[in-house]
Amino acid sequence: MDVRVRNQSLSQIETDVLILPLFEGAAVAADLDPAVGGLVAQATGTRDFAGEKDQVTVLYTGGKVAARKLLLLGLGKESKSDYRALRRAAGVGARAARESGASSIAFSLPPAAGLSPEKVAQFVTEGALHGLYRFQSYKSEPKEKPQVASIAILGGSEIEAGVAYGQAVAEGVNLARALTWMPGNHLTATVLAEKAGEVCQAGNIEIEVYDKKGCEELGLGLLLAVNQGSKEEPRFIVMRYKGNGGQGPWLGFVGKGITFDTGGISIKPSDGMWDMKDDMGGAAAVLGAMATIARVKPKADVLAIIASTDNMPDGNAYKPGDVIRGLSGKTVEVRSTDAEGRLVLADGLAYAAKQGCQKLVTASTLTGAANIALGPIRFGIVSNNEAWEEQIFLAAEAAGERGWRLPHDEEYYDLFKSPIADMSNTGTGRSAGTTVGGLFLMKHVGDTPCVHMDIAAQIWRHNADKFEDVGATGAGVRTFVQAAMAFAEGK
Ligand code: BES
Ligand code: MN
Ligand code: ZN
Repeated sequence: MDVRVRNQSLSQIETDVLILPLFEGAAVAADLDPAVGGLVAQATGTRDFAGEKDQVTVLYTGGKVAARKLLLLGLGKESKSDYRALRRAAGVGARAARESGASSIAFSLPPAAGLSPEKVAQFVTEGALHGLYRFQSYKSEPKEKPQVASIAILGGSEIEAGVAYGQAVAEGVNLARALTWMPGNHLTATVLAEKAGEVCQAGNIEIEVYDKKGCEELGLGLLLAVNQGSKEEPRFIVMRYKGNGGQGPWLGFVGKGITFDTGGISIKPSDGMWDMKDDMGGAAAVLGAMATIARVKPKADVLAIIASTDNMPDGNAYKPGDVIRGLSGKTVEVRSTDAEGRLVLADGLAYAAKQGCQKLVTASTLTGAANIALGPIRFGIVSNNEAWEEQIFLAAEAAGERGWRLPHDEEYYDLFKSPIADMSNTGTGRSAGTTVGGLFLMKHVGDTPCVHMDIAAQIWRHNADKFEDVGATGAGVRTFVQAAMAFAEGK
């Protein structure tokens, strides 16, 4: 996609569709409307277009200005507006413009009371690229034509950095979406490692990939147990971005890369099981974030880990009741082979902690309970450290994602005690499922501050929406990127 800043007036810009974002009741583009004979004022005056959220009206300019069409884009009430709302609007507008046949689009940026023009440009760019994304890799005939090929953002040099940042973020998010869309027969752990290799090569990031034998040598007993029932080899992927010269302190990211989760011997019901191809969404978020980080270059050292395998039932598969030991040295009684994510993550986190990371962040589609507790609106945050938890909560907010902190009182650890091992991999019945999943991880990092993001309810959009296509969302990428930016500033 060709994205560029253009310092041109509304009537000069040559484009298929010029998008005009408007708040409810806002006065209209004074420099444009006279040129088109008061068209815009007519639409807004007749209530055909009231500026409501998600509202879109397309007008032909009749050749009176350089743009072929105008698209009035409702932003809702100005008092309720923020960067997230602008990002959404940009996606809605870009998709509506494509629907109307545009191959080039231009955005006029909304007047931003209290918001910085650079960040408005960033979020508008991000929203447009996010909205336009469709996964069509397996379609013999790509669906709708034409595709949007170029986006112009109207403004001067003050928005250049914002546009570049927004594009880097959106492309990392869209990379994560593409990986998450890929089915389990195409995206095996081996292929995921190859994809990671491509990202690292392009971004000048060091990478080490451990195969099954390598995992054995490292002592990743929990990842290997989950992999036992699979005919595919596991992969343990270690990436090092040296934005601070590699002298540390290191920020550690860990992603759950279950390329398909059948539940294993504790097998899942078959209805909707196809959806478990998205069980590597946390890993995709880590990789997407590293792709973005390589472009926006925070002055931070980041160690990023992906622990990947599928979770299959088989004669060799690990079983409920098995006792296994991972890299942290702690023993785990397997009460459910379907609680596999916390096992592979525990090894990834233990590795990152042993490598000396100062702080850790992990993302995973860990529990169905996260959807019960919070729905798709906010992801679950579980941590062993309140100051670090606060930083990640704020990083999510700043990046336009939203999390919510779950409790971590000592008593919650009692919910997954085991009579035979150091801990069980499940809690008591359905009690506090998301907290238990997260606190299980904390048992494997020693004293290192660690935040777990349970993105199970965010990773896949099941219903059509005006902002983003059905399917993979790329949840988690933006928070990881923002965490690295903040870490570079000592936060
Ligand atoms: N990948 C699932 C979690 C999940 C469920 C994500 C539904 C998205 C939608 C995870 O591995 C899992 O199976 N978790 C179990 C944990 C339980 C056995 C303690 C769950 O949530 O039921
Ligand atoms: Mn599972
Ligand atoms: Zn899973």
